[in-house]
Amino acid sequence: MKFSKKLSVIAIAYALGAIPFVTAQDASSSAQPWMKTDLSAAERTQLVLKEMTLDEKLSLVVGYFGTDAPWKNFTRPVESHPQSAGFVYGVPRLGIPHIWQADAGVGVASQGGPNVRERTALPSGMNTAATWNPQVGFEGGAMIGSEARTSGFNVLLAGGVNLVREPRNGRNFEYGGEDPLLAGVMVGAQIKGVQSNKIVSTLKHFAYNDQESGRFHLNVTIDEAAGRMSDLLALQFAYEIGNPGSVMCSYNRVYGVYGCESEYLLNEVLKKDWGFKGWVMSDWGATHSTIPAANNGLDQQSGLPFDHAAYFKEPLKEAVTNGWVTQARLDDMAGRVLHALFEQGVMDNPVPQASNNIDFKKHGLISQKDAEEGMVLLRNEKVNGATLLPLAKELKKIAIIGSHANVGVLSGGGSSQVYPIGGMAVKGLGPKVFPGPMVYYPSSPMKALAVRYPNARISFDEGTNPQAAAKLAAESDLTIVFANQWTAESVDVPNLSLPDNQDALIASVAKANAKTVVVLQTGGAVLMPWLNDVGAVVEAWYPGTNGGEAIARVLSGEVNPSGHLPITFPAAENQLPRAIVDGSLKKPEERFEVNYFEGAAVGYKWFELKNHQPLFPFGFGLSYTDFAYSDLKADVKNGQLNVSFSVKNTGALAGKDVAQVYVAPKSAKWEAPKRLGAFQKVDLKPGESSNVTVTVDPRLLAMYQSKDKTWKIAKGEYEVILAKSTAEPQTSVKVKLPARKLDVNGK
Ligand code: BGC
Repeated sequence: MKFSKKLSVIAIAYALGAIPFVTAQDASSSAQPWMKTDLSAAERTQLVLKEMTLDEKLSLVVGYFGTDAPWKNFTRPVESHPQSAGFVYGVPRLGIPHIWQADAGVGVASQGGPNVRERTALPSGMNTAATWNPQVGFEGGAMIGSEARTSGFNVLLAGGVNLVREPRNGRNFEYGGEDPLLAGVMVGAQIKGVQSNKIVSTLKHFAYNDQESGRFHLNVTIDEAAGRMSDLLALQFAYEIGNPGSVMCSYNRVYGVYGCESEYLLNEVLKKDWGFKGWVMSDWGATHSTIPAANNGLDQQSGLPFDHAAYFKEPLKEAVTNGWVTQARLDDMAGRVLHALFEQGVMDNPVPQASNNIDFKKHGLISQKDAEEGMVLLRNEKVNGATLLPLAKELKKIAIIGSHANVGVLSGGGSSQVYPIGGMAVKGLGPKVFPGPMVYYPSSPMKALAVRYPNARISFDEGTNPQAAAKLAAESDLTIVFANQWTAESVDVPNLSLPDNQDALIASVAKANAKTVVVLQTGGAVLMPWLNDVGAVVEAWYPGTNGGEAIARVLSGEVNPSGHLPITFPAAENQLPRAIVDGSLKKPEERFEVNYFEGAAVGYKWFELKNHQPLFPFGFGLSYTDFAYSDLKADVKNGQLNVSFSVKNTGALAGKDVAQVYVAPKSAKWEAPKRLGAFQKVDLKPGESSNVTVTVDPRLLAMYQSKDKTWKIAKGEYEVILAKSTAEPQTSVKVKLPARKLDVNGK
């Protein structure tokens, strides 16, 4: 038989999975009623489930690693995308697509290896949280979601919102900071953005995966109510805002039980209390059983061969056949996967064949905007009568020191690693195996500055020798030291000091030249013993694909910094609840307990409770302009606390303010003196003002009651504080709240 050329192209496209076997339009009039788009996701799920065999249902609840793992004798399924995180077989005869999964929160990541996928990287999640701008979170999510779709992925393993309870956690850079409201809102917005591409995003890691040391072996205990008001509240906000199709359960145990077989976390909190309709997937290597896992709420085992056994393959089939896992439960497991695929539009909009047909320039600018809005100006002092930043136009000799700033910017390591277009700026850095390598993106702050200061002589010194660097600094009008702290999945940092003798480097440079600016690229908080000796400090986190450009624009004043800290920077580690990371001195296989005795007093709440003075408080961030607040009012209508005020830009430059509303009870007893109740980022021209109204989620005014699963607001007087950070109240009003009891979802 002779095929026309056009037909054979279509045939190949079918074979490659680029075209669904039945399109939505065909199906609506055919024998596939579940493809009718006017039916609800729940109805469509039930219709297709009826057609599925036992083996087809089982195939939906098992995922494979999408990368060869020779040390485990594992070859990835041929249908998976190379060097990807995961793959699940769909049921093509019923129009159920395969599931292609990619990490993660800052872009389409690639597992290490010979042919990495090069994509656009957002700045770290911490940076995005530091924007305090949910729109930026959404746009970044939408951008990385679109790259995921173009790359042939229909599930992005994004949405990390573990609370920064342990500042030394190696994965803090992926998350949204220490406050449940800010973290939940920002990560929820990102999930929404990812899913706007008709693909699924996860929410992870469920729950209490707040440190990497011993993550497979540790057992977390925390007062139940305190957990609902901290880690779980951040996840709950992100869940409500983002409506993720999937939730990834975590490695650690909670109350003695693995996260991925915790009846409490999965069946009770997530599915029953919050009403989650999508599916729970395990983290890679986090499934430990068949019957307990399936019956306690795990819907899909991920990442074979990372678990000790393929618990959800033959063993699950046997358990369903002999009734230890009911047929109804298997239908629920497979049905939850289907429900999310229908609800998020994956079924009706199959992902195309993988390509790299992406507008990288445009996407780079989206990432850059995020970086520019998240950088935090921590210090900007007058030296010889003028503030150091923005950099003076007439500078003639600028010294740039350290962190390979002549060629690139740093990123965080591990499964979330996005590889840069055009290759790494510096090769051969960091560990040879996971979570390495240490990746610098080829966006040079020095080159970006050179464009802006064409008349200046800009010199670079690697910064490995403090004396040599000091010599260059002494000969220059101004010195910019780039200091870094590489953090990565699977390892916590040993302490909050900058590594590799960088404190000594900064100290000696600052001594040589009073006009010293420090630009930090860190996963989170670091100590700054040299702080009072330098003129300016900018926290640039991990600034992503266009980070060099973003840094230059902030330093030069083209962009007015508006990032505010989403975490507290401690003045010393002995201010933290734990002297060292729990279990960090244990042997790799040793089991241990982590008792979160501080309960919901996480971050600034702990600092205020204990009266510790931080180096920089939560919410802190300077600007090149000034803002003033007035007309603060608080009223209660139908039990709802509304707060209104006016913000004015009183300086000479346009800029963005982050107005922060804190709430503090006068007599009710909370875990800490105050909580962030609401916030609003406002963009203002010089002299311009804006009226803002925000509402406070009632859960942030309440104490959770474990016994009857309610949030209880105590009757009485509360203070509503409008502030620039937790330590900078500007104005406050008092308000009387009536007693109120809300259900588990704050309704
Ligand atoms: C990480 C997850 C990630 C998964 C797949 C795990 O090690 O904890 O966040 O999504 O790997 O790469």
